[in-house]
Amino acid sequence: MRFDILTIFPGMFDGPLSESILGRAREAGHISVHLHDLRDWAHDRHRTVDDYPFGGGAGMVMKPEPLFEAIEAIASEDPAPLFRVFLSPQGRRLDRALVGELAQQERLLLICGRYEGIDQRVLDHAVDLEVSIGDFVVSGGELPAMLLLDAVARQVPGVLGSEGSLEEESFDGGLLEYPQYTRPAEFNGWTVPEVLLSGNHAAIAAWRRAQRLERTVDRRPDLLPHADLTAEERAKLLGDPGFAQVRVGDTIFHVRVAAVAVHEGRVLLHRTASDSIWSLPGGRLRVGERVEEAVRRELREEAEMKNVVAGEVLWVDENFFEARSAQDGPGRGELLRHHEIGVYVAVEVPERFTRRDVFRGRELAGTEHEFALEFRWVAPADLDALDVRPARIVPALRQALAGR
Ligand SMILES: C[S@@+](CC[C@H](N)C(=O)[O-])C[C@H]1O[C@@H](n2cnc3c(N)ncnc32)[C@H](O)[C@@H]1O
Repeated sequence: MRFDILTIFPGMFDGPLSESILGRAREAGHISVHLHDLRDWAHDRHRTVDDYPFGGGAGMVMKPEPLFEAIEAIASEDPAPLFRVFLSPQGRRLDRALVGELAQQERLLLICGRYEGIDQRVLDHAVDLEVSIGDFVVSGGELPAMLLLDAVARQVPGVLGSEGSLEEESFDGGLLEYPQYTRPAEFNGWTVPEVLLSGNHAAIAAWRRAQRLERTVDRRPDLLPHADLTAEERAKLLGDPGFAQVRVGDTIFHVRVAAVAVHEGRVLLHRTASDSIWSLPGGRLRVGERVEEAVRRELREEAEMKNVVAGEVLWVDENFFEARSAQDGPGRGELLRHHEIGVYVAVEVPERFTRRDVFRGRELAGTEHEFALEFRWVAPADLDALDVRPARIVPALRQALAGR
């Protein structure tokens, strides 16, 4: 990968580019870095590259002509397409995802601002992306460019060599790294977690995975919406008491419990009298509630069924959507992203309800009051003939029933 840097202080790059990983990566030819002094494109003998801002105000602004000419000349040095980045506190924030995107480029030009910044016309017509290293201002684009170069170069194959690995590094898969220890195993009376000394690779991997999850939940819950988690990990993390419905950034996480009544390979669906759509009984886990408690409560509330026994988890799934949040939940009334984990638990219903195929809500609840719900036992093969909400659960439901 080729990097070009346009700056009025090329000397600032000497140290970082010649030492350690970057120095070796250049020597080995994994990356090449070409420094360009913007003053080489100045038009006067004082090599001026800045001027007063139109409209007045403090400071100076970098002139457009030297920048345009320099960018054009640098582009023509190599036939590979040049992706032009201006380092700016107003740019897209540099993060793991952006580093990955930039590492896909063959050639990157990093343009370093000084003074109050550069003429807007350069940004409008000669820059592909503005990138910021954080919500603070430093004196010039050189240090930001070095950070960006270092982070991107680490993604280039061969650059890290045997010295480090990108796998399981912080932000890989959206999680922080696990804690690290080295010898001695005991220092000042402080010991290293025993599992790390066990030589049991599977146990070590499991411990590290658990540490990564725990640290991320603890320190950077904002990473979780985009983290690479298994559905089980999500359900476990987010289903913890007190974490059942929680807002993280602009995402609401829910754990949804559906208590699926199952008998001899059939499943009990319900619908309201006015509605043609059939669905599984189910509802939301409440904050602080355990899955099993929620299953019992949901069933009690829905049909006042007695003696329901929660069985095994049938399947777990995930659902992403955008919606106005419930009035009683976090982010109430706001249009937010929702990330729902469905935990489908098989339950048994009293024997007397399994003898008939169709019955009314009031029978199930054992009350005299009319219940606008109709219940029906359905075989997996008949699910397709019904309009089941949500439709995507049908294949999972059929599979879960077939596996029993
Ligand atoms: C003093 S800053 C100018 C800040 C500008 N007047 C503003 O308020 O947006 C000079 C140069 O430093 C670089 N710079 C400063 N902070 C940065 C940041 N957080 N990320 C990337 N580059 C930055 C940019 O190249 C910028 O043009």
